[in-house]
Amino acid sequence: MSRRIALASDHAAIELRRAIAAHVTARGDVVVDLGPETPESIPYPAQGAAAAKLVASGACDLGIVVCGTGQGIMMAANKVPGIRCGVCADTFSARMIRQHNDANMLALGARVLGIGLALDLVDAFLDAEFEGGRHATRVDMIKAMEG
Ligand code: RB5
Repeated sequence: MSRRIALASDHAAIELRRAIAAHVTARGDVVVDLGPETPESIPYPAQGAAAAKLVASGACDLGIVVCGTGQGIMMAANKVPGIRCGVCADTFSARMIRQHNDANMLALGARVLGIGLALDLVDAFLDAEFEGGRHATRVDMIKAMEG
């Protein structure tokens, strides 16, 4: 069954975001792309929060956010209650943040990664499922910190 994937970047990551949008669409999921479409500077906190709100509200199942390093947009996404977003540059971590941490968003650095690796990271993240069990207890502890 196809899922809805929220996607957003800042100005530093437009090319990678477009590649991710095409890749995720080709996989059969629906991309909700928050842009930007033009290269003017756009702040990563606003973009990260906008994508995160789509995920936190249930409008999207998962989210992918991209900036120069992935770090700033990840920090912004994680300020939205209900969001667990990790920056990844290796496929093991991209898989494990789903399996063990129930991450619902992935952050990538367009100035860090080549497009080939970035798309492999997207696949690792989207193909993995939360394992629950003992990991659920720990994720519940994170959720409890949100008050
Ligand atoms: C923009 O120049 C850059 O600071 C941003 O894309 C990101 O790397 C921040 O974390």
